[in-house]
Amino acid sequence: MANVVVVGAQWGDEGKGKIVDWLSERADVIARFQGGHNAGHTLVIDSKVYKLHALPSGVVRGGKLSVIGNGVVLDPWNLLQEIETIRAQGVEISPETLMIAENTPLILPYHGELDRAREEAASKGTKIGTTGRGIGPCYEDKVGRRAIRVADLADHATLEARVDRALQHHDPLRKGLGQPPIDRDALIEQLKQVAPNILQYAGPVWKVMSEKRKAGKRILFEGAQGALLDIDFGTYPFVTSSNVIAGQAATGVGIGPGAIDYVLGIVKAYTTRVGEGPFPTELQDADGQRLGERGHEFGTTTGRQRRCGWFDAALVRQTCATSGVNGISLTKLDVLDGFETLKICVGYDLDGTRLDYLPTATDQQARCVPIYEDVPGWSESTEGARSWADLPANAIKYVRRVEELIDCPVALLSTSPEREDTILVTDPFAD
Ligand code: GDP
Ligand code: IMO
Ligand code: MG
Repeated sequence: MANVVVVGAQWGDEGKGKIVDWLSERADVIARFQGGHNAGHTLVIDSKVYKLHALPSGVVRGGKLSVIGNGVVLDPWNLLQEIETIRAQGVEISPETLMIAENTPLILPYHGELDRAREEAASKGTKIGTTGRGIGPCYEDKVGRRAIRVADLADHATLEARVDRALQHHDPLRKGLGQPPIDRDALIEQLKQVAPNILQYAGPVWKVMSEKRKAGKRILFEGAQGALLDIDFGTYPFVTSSNVIAGQAATGVGIGPGAIDYVLGIVKAYTTRVGEGPFPTELQDADGQRLGERGHEFGTTTGRQRRCGWFDAALVRQTCATSGVNGISLTKLDVLDGFETLKICVGYDLDGTRLDYLPTATDQQARCVPIYEDVPGWSESTEGARSWADLPANAIKYVRRVEELIDCPVALLSTSPEREDTILVTDPFAD
């Protein structure tokens, strides 16, 4: 198989960064296709920690082309800062190794301000718990045809016209929120200053992807967030503002769907969520606390504590379907070490009716009571295991039961944050 898409199959933070980094050894091009710096992808290589937000996780390995596709929303100042931070860790980043699609919409300061003002004004029940990075307002501008895109930075007249169009929309909105109007001239000046630094990386990503594909190069598409945060298939409205599922990989860089040979779903061995919204298997007891502590469940981007709960097989079966997942990478198995009994959600009870999926209506989601199956735990350590032979029998049984319940095989297993603490079962890139 030539090209692999990696997608989160829960509510994000499944360990996509670690797995993309691990797989990037086999790839020539690593492309981000949606989301922005709301993402936080952590890589640990020989105890050295790298935290990536908008940069593809393949950038650390070196010698690969990293791509930021048009499906991404990009904060230019934040990206340049991230490049500096990662460079300071010894990683080489240059226009030869990083390419940004010219048709990528830019996140501007007023997007973040609007995002945060809305969240502050929201009451319980309407608050999303966003990352406050301006992601939603920027995607709104893209669809509203008033976004400023990377290519607009190259021509001052176009840039000024685009800013004026954006202000026509944003100034009245800001007035309603009690915010001052945008300082047009200062914004244009800021954009002119940042332009050359961004434009040095800009190019026709769709064309380069097509050439790479024809040349038989291997492409690794890196998703951000997780399928349950997808704008269409997630727990709406408590979602992010982009399509997260695998189909977006093609649209988000400008390549045909036929370019996707294998979809790898990244699945945490339990469940976490940051921000508001339904979470049927959430634990607000000692078990939940233990998962959070053992799993160090604090957000890479915002530092917020993640909500924790048992593995929800019904939800993952659902996300494997919407993304057409061929195999999963089961991560953080080690966090389950030492539990006497583990619970797996196999479906829901909705007003006396058994469901094997989470319904779409918010009120029904709230009434869904998880139906659990008990699975025996293990007392041995799986931390750092690098082969099946290192796993206790009950850990293997847990993995096998997960595979049966989600109707999808395990291709990779991860047993610690370290790059090499990974067990390969089936190579997603294999022909
Ligand atoms: P992403 O957003 O999907 O890339 O995931 P994050 O990086 O936000 O969160 C996953 C966290 O779990 C990071 O701190 C990783 O270093 C860590 N991690 C990844 N795989 C494993 C694993 O198998 N075991 C443990 N204990 N930690 C892991
Ligand atoms: P990675 O790529 C976990 C969540 C936010 C909030 C909702 C909307 O690291 O898995 P947004 O700022 O996108 O408008 O927030 O989505 N969210 C994430 N949760 N991991 C992420 O990314 C997330 N990106 C956004 O917490 O609930
Ligand atoms: Mg993350």
